[in-house]
Amino acid sequence: MPSPSRYEKMKYQRCGKSGVLLPRISLGLWHNFGDVDTVATQRGLIAHAFDLGITHFDLANNYGPPAGSAEINFGRILREDLAAYRDEMIISSKAGYYMYPGPYGEWGSRKYLIASLDQSLKRMGLEYVDIFYHHRPDPNTPLEETMGALDHAVRQGKALYVGISNYRPEDTRRAAAILKGLGTPCLIHQPKYNMLDRWIENGLTTVLEEEGIGCIPFSPLAQGQLTDRYLKEIPSDSRAGRGGFLKTPEVEKNLPKIRALNAIAANRSQPLAEMALAWILRLPQVTSALIGASSITQLDTNVKVLERLEFSAEELAAIEAILRG
Ligand SMILES: NC(=O)c1ccc[n+]([C@@H]2O[C@H](COP(=O)([O-])OP(=O)(O)OC[C@H]3O[C@@H](n4cnc5c(N)ncnc54)[C@H](OP(=O)(O)O)[C@@H]3O)[C@@H](O)[C@H]2O)c1
Repeated sequence: MPSPSRYEKMKYQRCGKSGVLLPRISLGLWHNFGDVDTVATQRGLIAHAFDLGITHFDLANNYGPPAGSAEINFGRILREDLAAYRDEMIISSKAGYYMYPGPYGEWGSRKYLIASLDQSLKRMGLEYVDIFYHHRPDPNTPLEETMGALDHAVRQGKALYVGISNYRPEDTRRAAAILKGLGTPCLIHQPKYNMLDRWIENGLTTVLEEEGIGCIPFSPLAQGQLTDRYLKEIPSDSRAGRGGFLKTPEVEKNLPKIRALNAIAANRSQPLAEMALAWILRLPQVTSALIGASSITQLDTNVKVLERLEFSAEELAAIEAILRG
């Protein structure tokens, strides 16, 4: 039974110019929800996130491993523990990266997107997702076809809203115009954004503002680098320690900056993870920070950011100096 006080502490922000409010912290299931992860931990994370007022859960066809297993596991948890609360949740999925063999198992064709969404719905046991994303731009498929497929998913009743991910500013503007013409506005953009990767500040946020599109940055903690996880060592149970998308040499290269940022966080009496999230949420265009978590303690720490979002001009300048250094 979810906590009756779950909506008391979380803050919600309007997504672009839409009717949708998203929690300022959302939970992604890229890692920690595959068949390689323990079911009890997964169940605990989802239940605890919902208790904290996190209403948005982000998936994709290929999350696992193996690909597809995060959707299956999430669907089971939803069915067994939270079925009565489906209408209180925003559940998203995506297609774009490699999912199955042959010419129709990745990128941006109508053939792939519509089939993949059907597969995602089956895996999760859902009739519809709240948001269906095109996961990455496809340089070889006409944008009209890809956006047409997103619009079709909405008209089929299989998605309530659509979004795009990893699109550069100019393609975002074009995609938004095509979707507007079709009568299905682009709700949201999901880009990578954190203190160590600031590309969205060079044009994307302006486009999103002008087009009234929400923004939900992924990997806001740089996969755990912008926390205390790696300050002393590379723990064997950490993402870098397990060896996957985050590599030890990358962490080691970033450590001097991470340590300097940690000192500023300490002066604010805030863990580095919270400061890194507050820094993301400082941009008015950012609707929600899309975190990952491998433990309930991490969820609790990250949600506490809402108690201290403000920065002084001096703090921002000091952070800027470190990031540019
Ligand atoms: N659209 C796309 O192309 C795309 C790409 C990537 C991700 N995403 C989405 O974004 C979501 C989040 O990405 P992400 O998992 O990379 O986000 P992240 O929040 O930057 O990294 C999450 C990881 O950081 C560590 N962590 C989190 N909170 C911590 C804390 N308080 N203290 C210490 N360590 C902490 C944990 O790593 P440990 O496992 O080491 O504990 C956790 O698994 C994904 O689940 C997915 O939904 C989308």
